[in-house]
Formats: sequence, structure tokens, C-alpha cells
Amino acid sequence: MQAWFCDTLDGVDALQWRELPTPEPQAGEVRIAIEAASLNFPDLLIVQGKYQVKPPLPFVPGAEYAGTVEAVGTGVAQLKVGDRVAAIGSTGGFATHAIVDASRVLPLPSGFSSSDGAAFAFTYGTSHHALIDRAQLKAGETVLVLGAAGGVGTAALQIAKAAGARVIAAASSDAKCALCRELGADATLNYGSQDLRETLKALTGGKGPDVVYDPVGGDLAEPAFRSIAWRGRYLVVGFAGGGIPALPWNLALLKGASVVGVFWGDFVRREPEANQRALMQLAQWYAAGSIKPAIDMEMPMSEIRAAYARMGSRQVMGKLLLVNKP
Ligand SMILES: NC(=O)c1ccc[n+]([C@@H]2O[C@H](COP(=O)([O-])OP(=O)(O)OC[C@H]3O[C@@H](n4cnc5c(N)ncnc54)[C@H](OP(=O)(O)O)[C@@H]3O)[C@@H](O)[C@H]2O)c1
Repeated sequence: MQAWFCDTLDGVDALQWRELPTPEPQAGEVRIAIEAASLNFPDLLIVQGKYQVKPPLPFVPGAEYAGTVEAVGTGVAQLKVGDRVAAIGSTGGFATHAIVDASRVLPLPSGFSSSDGAAFAFTYGTSHHALIDRAQLKAGETVLVLGAAGGVGTAALQIAKAAGARVIAAASSDAKCALCRELGADATLNYGSQDLRETLKALTGGKGPDVVYDPVGGDLAEPAFRSIAWRGRYLVVGFAGGGIPALPWNLALLKGASVVGVFWGDFVRREPEANQRALMQLAQWYAAGSIKPAIDMEMPMSEIRAAYARMGSRQVMGKLLLVNKP
């Protein structure tokens, strides 16, 4: 097998593509021949030692991937050689093969492509947990999605629509806003050129959004929080913009509003049954055609540096995939 190894925490430029003997799965593990892996923002952070998960060195980055089960360790009853699967871990995906604990592997329903399988659970799982579970989103409410053309953003937009909400998708360019309208946004806001607060006032008749989904943070957070509706819920999802915002607490008092933290990885670990129920609803929405990953582009696995650069410079729209040649 071959894999991109992170030997030092010096970012993507220090990753090394190396060959090693293809390992056999131990008890409870399976080996997957990887067809596609998707890039998530945490993949950029983990190779710099800036993510909350810090695996021992050396490690292979790549949190989410899909392919075919090639070998099964003892004690694994639910998976067999030849099964088409998706896997979620924190590492291992930017490779030709991965050994992974069977509990982190999901069989792909028929009709679910490997590309969609590699681009699904991380973003849709996060956004479902955020909107449906943490924010208790109701049909008819208005959701503002910041960074709406990104990975978790496009998933949030589609999930909010599937739940019957009205979606205002906000992004930094007209091209990103156009993608959001294609994906079903009711209205868009280009925060690169429009004033966030004035535009939100106009789009909501002065009331403000009931739920704000924020994977960006930085300077957008305070004006977005100031715009929130009475009893609003502000979802703290991530800080792709770099800065962790600090809010005056009186804003929460004045709106009777909540700041709601979202940590999907820990939700999966702490509440596996609730996560299973969420994934089942997502699979049903996928089968019904209500949600589907927006694929930015597919790049060969060898192009990992270009892929990281594309995400780091905000060019990715939807999900970027790294694929192995058949
Ligand atoms: N809480 C959780 O459980 C959880 C789970 C998954 C991901 N996350 C977090 O969610 C965030 C988004 O992840 P993702 O995989 O969706 O990333 P992504 O596809 O790159 O989307 C992030 C979006 O943030 C915006 N952005 C603003 N400033 C940026 C910058 N300096 N660099 C890159 N993007 C910037 C971009 O939109 P515009 O250009 O339109 O501003 C971009 O589309 C990350 O912070 C990630 O760690 C959290």
C-alpha cells in the first residue's frame, strides 16, 4: 500500500508519499481498498498540530473515505470482503488502503456512489446534529448559514431545507451564492460585498434569523449574533476564518438567545444510538433525493498539495475529493 505520511507537524508540504507492506487487520478491524477520500477543514489543521485531535507521529491524514472491504479481522460479523463501505476516523484516508476499527465503518446502501460515500457522514452528520438536535430547528423557521458554499455549509443548507426551514445562505462571492441557490437556498447574501446586518434585516422583515449556523467565526460572528431573532439559537460549529470570536454577553440577554456548541465527533462517541438515528434519517433523505453532496472536483490522490491549497484559499465549493485510480 501507499500513503501520505505526516512525520512532522509542518503542514501539507512536509507530507511524504511512501510505500509499505499492506498490513493485515487485527481483531475487530477491517482493511479497506480506498476509492475516494474527501477533504475536510480539520485535515488542514491536523497536519499542523492545530486540531483538537493530535495523533501520535507518524500518521496518515484523511478523516473520511470510501471503498471496498478487502480483508476482515476476527470478531467482525457485520462486514465481509467485497462490501462497499464508507469510513470515518480522524486519520488514515489519504492512502490506497486503510486499516480501521469496524465500528467506524458503515455499509453503503445501494445507489450510494463511493464519491458521495466519501463526502457524506462528516459534513451531513455535523450539520444534522447542529440543526436538528442542538438547535431543535422547526419547519417554517429561518436559518442563516454562514460559509454556506463550504463542506458543512452545503450540508447545512440542504438539511435545513429538508426540515422545512427557510434558508438564507451567506458566502464570500457571487459564484458561491449562485451555487447555494442551485442547492435550494431561498435567499443569498454575499458578505464579501453586502452589509450583513442591513441585508439580514431586509431579508427577514426586521425579525432576524431564528437559527444561525456558523462554521466561520472571526469578524462575521458578532454582526450575525446581533441580527438573531428573539429566542434565536446561534450554532458554534467552527472557526475556518481563523479567529475565535468574543461576544458581549448582553447580546444573548437582549434577544433571549442561546449560544449552542456543536462537537459532532464527541456526540458520535458519547451518544452512538442518537448518531445512528441521525444517519438513518440522512440516508432516507439521500434516497429521496432531498440531500446530495455537491462535489467541487475530483483530484488524483497524488495532488494532495493542490487540494489543500484549494481549500486553504477558500476556492472549494462543496466537497473536494482525492481519488485513487482503479
Ligand atoms: N463542530 C464540529 O463538530 C465540526 C465538524 C466538522 C467541521 N467543523 C468545522 O467547520 C469548519 C468548516 O469545515 P469545512 O470542512 O466545511 O470547511 P470548508 O469546506 O473549507 O468551508 C469553510 C468555509 O469557511 C469560509 N472561510 C472563511 N475564511 C476562511 C479561510 N481563511 N480559510 C478557509 N475558509 C474560510 C469559506 O467560505 P466563504 O469563502 O464563503 O467565507 C469556506 O467555504 C471548520 O472550522 C471545521 O473545523 C466543525
